[in-house]
Amino acid sequence: MKIVVLAGGLSPERNVSLSSGVMVAEALRGRGHKAALVDMYFGLEDDGKTLEDRFDAPLPDAGKHVDRDAPDLEAVKASRKGKGKSQFGPGVLELCAMADIVFLALHGQCGEDGRVQAAFDLMGIPYTGAGYLGSALAMDKDLTKRLIAGAGVDTPRWKAVRYTERDVDRLTSQTPVPCVVKPVDSGSSIGVSIAHDKKELRAALLDGLRFGGRSVLEQYVAGREIQVGILEDEALPSIEIIPKSGFYDYENKYQPGAAVEVCPAEISSEAEAKLRAAALKVYRTLGLSVYSRADFILDAEGTPWFLEINTLPGMTPTSLLPQEAAAVGVDYAALCERILLASLE
Ligand code: DAL
Ligand code: MG
Repeated sequence: MKIVVLAGGLSPERNVSLSSGVMVAEALRGRGHKAALVDMYFGLEDDGKTLEDRFDAPLPDAGKHVDRDAPDLEAVKASRKGKGKSQFGPGVLELCAMADIVFLALHGQCGEDGRVQAAFDLMGIPYTGAGYLGSALAMDKDLTKRLIAGAGVDTPRWKAVRYTERDVDRLTSQTPVPCVVKPVDSGSSIGVSIAHDKKELRAALLDGLRFGGRSVLEQYVAGREIQVGILEDEALPSIEIIPKSGFYDYENKYQPGAAVEVCPAEISSEAEAKLRAAALKVYRTLGLSVYSRADFILDAEGTPWFLEINTLPGMTPTSLLPQEAAAVGVDYAALCERILLASLE
């Protein structure tokens, strides 16, 4: 098959996506496909190569780890000056239209949030993963929680807020601690803070302004961090993440060795069954398809508390879904190929 692996993009998870993209493109080539890796935002270099040549162009080193910090998007934008306002760089759409399918290795806004999916639907370009609506719902942590709480899935109590600096003191006094402050629509824990006391809460709210001041303030639930992948409508074995320090934040997610991952998680079969059932319920409630990864806290009583679901889960060297698939004998390349084939059905 001829595949475009679309990565990068103008999202805070740009570097995570580029790391996923290199791995996916290399794995697909290893299975005999023609795979072009493209940075969605920068597009094709004007280097005299034809579109066809891109499917055989050398790939950057696979297995490159994600930088310690999320990228500065203003700097990214400044370095593409003069190429218009489109989120698709030069040549990207033409190349995608030549492919049998586009493998979306994008993460976060403009990639995982349904907008690229909707554009491709209108253009008749097949792509991997969930459709536009489920993607949009899953990207919005408030809408997701409303829908899945209505379906009977346990999720920590929360309040969605839209605020400016003027509201910070009022929100600090009104919100119980400990509490988790998260941008309503970001990923990879970028901008997520756990506030143990009011001072930390105030600082977290001020930090949240960097993400537009739309946040979810969520009750902090103590417990084990467990995630459940879904592949072709079936739950994979759960994985427990044990960060060496703090919680599973951006740095702990992408610095090799910063967290210990145990798959299958060492939990009771009853807890495993509850986690898998909850993950599938969320997936179905949001109308997702092909694959996903749902994130939970498992409390001391064995109740899974749903936090969020990722419709284009990370495929980087330290990512979790590939480890969960490997636990049932599906290696990385086979996982990529199953995602492709299921998306074409
Ligand atoms: N948002 C990151 C890529 C993940 O879910 O793995
Ligand atoms: Mg996420």
